[in-house]
Amino acid sequence: MDPDMATGGPMHLVCDTCRRIWPADRSPGRCVCGGLPELVFALPESIDPTIYDRRRDGLDPLDRSGVWRYREFLPPLSPGAVVTRPEGNTNLYTASALSSWTGCERLVLKHEGENPTGSFKDRGMTVATSHARAVGARVVACASTGNTSASVAAYAAMAGLLAVVFLPEGKISAAKLGQAIAYGARIVQVRGDFDAAMRLVEEASQELELYLLNSINPFRLAGQKTIVIELLHQLRWEPPDWIVLPGGNLGNTAAFGLAIAELQVTGIIARRPRLAVIQAEGAAPFYHAYRSGFARFSPEPAETVASAIRIGNPVSYHRARRAIEQTEGVVEIVSDEEILEAKARVDRAGIGCEPASAASVAGVRALVRAGIIAPGQSVVALLTGHLLKDPDTVMDYHLSPDAERRPLANRPVTVEPTLAALRGVLSDVA
Ligand SMILES: Cc1ncc(COP(=O)(O)O)c(C=O)c1O
Ligand SMILES: [Zn+2]
Repeated sequence: MDPDMATGGPMHLVCDTCRRIWPADRSPGRCVCGGLPELVFALPESIDPTIYDRRRDGLDPLDRSGVWRYREFLPPLSPGAVVTRPEGNTNLYTASALSSWTGCERLVLKHEGENPTGSFKDRGMTVATSHARAVGARVVACASTGNTSASVAAYAAMAGLLAVVFLPEGKISAAKLGQAIAYGARIVQVRGDFDAAMRLVEEASQELELYLLNSINPFRLAGQKTIVIELLHQLRWEPPDWIVLPGGNLGNTAAFGLAIAELQVTGIIARRPRLAVIQAEGAAPFYHAYRSGFARFSPEPAETVASAIRIGNPVSYHRARRAIEQTEGVVEIVSDEEILEAKARVDRAGIGCEPASAASVAGVRALVRAGIIAPGQSVVALLTGHLLKDPDTVMDYHLSPDAERRPLANRPVTVEPTLAALRGVLSDVA
C-alpha cells in the first residue's frame, strides 16, 4: 500500500480539497494539491457535559487547562507529550457602557487576552506544540502578525524546541516582538508584508523540515475550538444568538465552525449560534468574497491600524467560508476609526484589549445599526488580545494631534512638585 494512503492510527489527516489521506506523524502542511489538512479522529457519539464541571473543580493539571479539560474534542496525544501553562479559563464580562454604545442589551465579552501570553493563540499552541513534541520535531516555525510568534516562542521554550519566527519587518507591535525575543525564538524579519512572510515560512517548512505552527496546522484549530466549548460551558450550554469575532487569517472562524458542529453532533447543544466575522475595512478579502455570495475570492493588499488582522490572503478562507455557511453567519467591515473608538470604550470600561479585538465590538455596533443583530438578542463578542499587546496605538490615540477630536482622549499632564500647581490641574475634579 502507498504509505501516503495509510490511515496512521487513531487519527489521520485528510486533504480538504482532493480527500487524500495521510498519517499525522509529522508537520501537517499542505497537501500536494494545495489543499489544507483536516484532522480526523473519533468523537464520542454523545457526551454528558457534567464531566466538565467535575474536571473544572478538580486538581488534575490537565483538567485545569481550559483546553485539555475538553479533551474529548481534541486529538488523542499521550499526556506525557503535553505542554501546558495551563491556558484558557478566560472570563466573561458585561459593561453597561458597552451595551448602550453598541445598542446590544445582552452583550457579553469573552476575554481571550487573559491567556498565558496574552492572546487566544495559546489555545492552539498547547495542542500543536504537544503534537510537534510527540512526533519528534526539533525546530518549529511560524509567520506572524505578532501574537502567534509570542505564543510559539513561549511554548517552544517550555517544550525544549527551537523556534524560528518569520515577521513582516517593521509591521508588528514592539510588545509582541519583545515577547518573541525574550522567550528566545530565532527572529527572521522579512522585507514584505505578512502574506509574504507566510509564503516564505511555508516554503521553508518543506525544504528545511521545520514543524509549521501556523493555523494551516489543524492541531492549532483543534485547540482553538475550546474557546467556543469553554464559552458554552460558562453559559451552561445555552447557546447565544451570535458569536462575533475579528477575522484575519480566519483560523478562529474555521475552528469556531468546527466546534459548533461538534457540540451539536455530540448532543451538547441543540441549536447553532450564528457567527459574525468582522474585518477591518482596509484588510477585507473575506468580506468582499462574502458580498459576492462567495462566488469570487481574491487576495488584496491589506492596511489597517489593527496590525494583528492586517492580512490580505487568509490561509483558512475555504474553511471559514464553510463555517459561515453552516452557521448562517455574516461578515461585516468596520473602519479603523471605529476600531479605535471601540477599543477606547472597551479600555475605558476597565476591561481593555488590543485593536484587532475591538473590531468585534465595533462590529456588534455596526450589525445592530444594520438591523442584522436585533437589540434583544444575546451576543458574545470575542476579545482576542490583551491591552498591553499594543501600547503604541494607545499612545497615538490619546496623544496625537487627532486626539483633539476624540471624545475619550486622555492626555497626561506634567506639573511642578507643588500643591499650588496640582490644584491648578485638578481644579475640575478636587
Ligand atoms: C489579536 C488578534 N485578533 C484576531 C486575529 C485574527 O485571527 P484569525 O487569524 O484566526 O482570523 C489575530 C491573528 O493574528 C490576533 O492576533
Ligand atoms: Zn489534496
